[in-house]
Amino acid sequence: MFQRPTIKVFVVLVIIVIVLMMIQYLTVGNEHLFTNIRQLATNDNPGHNASAISRRKHIPERRTSTANTFVSSVKTKKIHFQHTNVIKTALKTPMAAISRNILDRYSEYRQIQQVADFGELYDPRFCVVELEVDRKTKTFTAGTELRVRVHLYNGYNQSLTQGGDLLNIWLRNTDGSSSVAGYVVDHMNGTYTGHVMAFWAGNLCVKVSVTNTKEGIGLYTNYVNVHGSYKFINATFSEKKKSEMTQCAPTMSDWLKKTYGGFCDLTHENYNISLFCGKPKSVSCRNWVKYGWDDSLYYDDYTRDILSYKDKVLKQIKLTVVPRENKNVQNARQLS
Ligand SMILES: *[C@@H]1O[C@H](CO)[C@@H](O)[C@H](O)[C@H]1NC(C)=O
Ligand SMILES: *[C@@H]1O[C@H](CO)[C@@H](O)[C@H](O)[C@H]1NC(C)=O
Ligand SMILES: *[C@@H]1O[C@H](CO)[C@@H](O)[C@H](O)[C@H]1NC(C)=O
Ligand SMILES: *[C@@H]1O[C@H](CO)[C@@H](O)[C@H](O)[C@H]1NC(C)=O
Ligand SMILES: *[C@@H]1O[C@H](CO)[C@@H](O)[C@H](O)[C@H]1NC(C)=O
Repeated sequence: MFQRPTIKVFVVLVIIVIVLMMIQYLTVGNEHLFTNIRQLATNDNPGHNASAISRRKHIPERRTSTANTFVSSVKTKKIHFQHTNVIKTALKTPMAAISRNILDRYSEYRQIQQVADFGELYDPRFCVVELEVDRKTKTFTAGTELRVRVHLYNGYNQSLTQGGDLLNIWLRNTDGSSSVAGYVVDHMNGTYTGHVMAFWAGNLCVKVSVTNTKEGIGLYTNYVNVHGSYKFINATFSEKKKSEMTQCAPTMSDWLKKTYGGFCDLTHENYNISLFCGKPKSVSCRNWVKYGWDDSLYYDDYTRDILSYKDKVLKQIKLTVVPRENKNVQNARQLS
């Protein structure tokens, strides 16, 4: 009865898209193939401003009545800019090159379940980004590593005292023709050091961005953990004249269970890729007929603002890298 190849293909695609969305959200690693493109396209705007961002509204949101308990419990925690609140987490792992070990630190991020105050997040207006210069030569030489010290401050111009924010660094020609990514070490005290190799000489620009805040990752991982998914798929069940639509996720979450009072396991119908749908009340699980999109998100505007506070350029520093001297002059001549 489930011989519907087009639907299966559709569902597999939907699941791939959901997985890609999760991966993309967490922008793990320094592979700039797609993070770079996205950042260059949307964020060549260093003057970003936390207060402006917190007012922006752009993700359409739908809520079902069943979500009210979660939504309202979050709403009561919504206290903007209350100076005394300090986010307490246990992000303690020392000297972590965080863009590589985000999954190891999943449980640490999970401890960030609420953010009381947007002002506690890093604020580009107050952050300090400095390029280290060789004291003797005062120049940057091709073939050496550039180091950038980053100190994050919150919206009250207070130093952050914990690590966990995800930073990226890269270097590119001012004409945009070449670019190379570096890596960032988290000192777990609000300071970071970015490292990037200056492979070539010329007029270059070092760019440092915060791709995700620890608060955003914390709220996101908790959301996924509670709901079983970030975005749901809708399944329609029909029998004779009765038809019902329920939401599906790749995992069985208590939230879905509470919403529908049980699950239909449609894993087998989905090429053995996990898929659990809310149990329809009036129709049996076996009367599943089709899948569809669902764009419902169950969080408040405040959480949405924190989740969308990502991929912000902290600083762009222009510099001139000079060719390496002596030994390589011969080579340089030959090349030119
Ligand atoms: C930040 O945004 C607010 C409101 O849009 C504006 O008044 C303020 O001047 C901006 N600050 C900076 C540094 O751009
Ligand atoms: C932040 O505070 C420091 C002193 O701790 C001060 O020098 C700096 O000017 C302040 N930054 C801004 C943008 O007000
Ligand atoms: C942060 O930690 C680094 C590395 O341990 C240390 O060099 C630096 O002084 C610390 N900075 C602050 C502000 O505590
Ligand atoms: C799914 O798994 C079951 C048993 O584990 C197996 O019999 C079935 O052939 C699998 N289906 C697909 C599409 O791989
Ligand atoms: C998906 O199902 C939920 C719950 O029945 C419903 O609220 C939502 O509007 C549906 N989404 C779409 C796109 O039909």
